[in-house]
Amino acid sequence: MSTSDVLETLAVADWSGPFSPEVQARAADALEAGKVVVLPGLEFDVDPCETPFLDPSVAGGDRKNISLDPGAATCDAVALDPAQSERLAALMRRFADHSEALVEGLIPAYRGHLERARTSFRPVEIAGRHYSPRHDDRRLHIDAFPTRPMRGKRILRVFTNVARDGAARDWRVGEPFEAYARTFAPKVKPAIPGSAWVMSSLGLTKGRRSEYDTLMLGLHDAGKLDETYQADAPKTPVAFAAGTTWLCFTDQVLHAALSGHSALEQTFHLPVDAMLKPDRSPLRVLERITGESLA
Ligand SMILES: [Fe+2]
Repeated sequence: MSTSDVLETLAVADWSGPFSPEVQARAADALEAGKVVVLPGLEFDVDPCETPFLDPSVAGGDRKNISLDPGAATCDAVALDPAQSERLAALMRRFADHSEALVEGLIPAYRGHLERARTSFRPVEIAGRHYSPRHDDRRLHIDAFPTRPMRGKRILRVFTNVARDGAARDWRVGEPFEAYARTFAPKVKPAIPGSAWVMSSLGLTKGRRSEYDTLMLGLHDAGKLDETYQADAPKTPVAFAAGTTWLCFTDQVLHAALSGHSALEQTFHLPVDAMLKPDRSPLRVLERITGESLA
């Protein structure tokens, strides 16, 4: 795979546009086709008085990430006092607002359908850490989360690299979703009958898992745990330079984050029917492969 198979690079320099119809069409088509849309000219401004909050120590202890839930006044940076936590939360909320304006400006059809989810700040270097294979996002994977059933909804993420030392964020991007799903879907075991209800009732999941969620979690795990696949699967290296913003449907784009620090990340959820071409969603692809209704 060449870089142009996995990336669509657009000349965008303003978070809120306005964007030309040509840029909008290219962004929408690339995203829904499973490419990463890269915006090398779109930097997220951090005020000089905010730069102390970019230090890896703000996460506190062994923690790697800081989270801000939509509507929350403070983030969960345990090393900060409440006033500092509010200021970092304000920075993260500003990124969330910028990201929402960007997505709605690039793809006006999503306006009114995007659900703002969590904002994350990842201040700590990825390379050199130890993870179990299932939790190691340096391995190629699609995003699927055990506690958050999506029931077919899309996961759209906006990232920006705010590293002060100029460090790039290095990814690998893998093969198209359908090829990956055709390899691994037959290996995924069905859920134990009644388990989705039990997990939901016990509060282990936020809502009940559907067959779609079981399949997506199975795809996530099977790919990450397959050493031969990780070694031999097609992958394209991509370096996101400091000052670059990029976005993709991470439930569709096979990705691995190998190194880098100081990334901000905004997650949105999107109903499949709000897509311009819902047939390209993992839900519809998996329904075609299995011949079953999965949501
Ligand atoms: Fe991921």
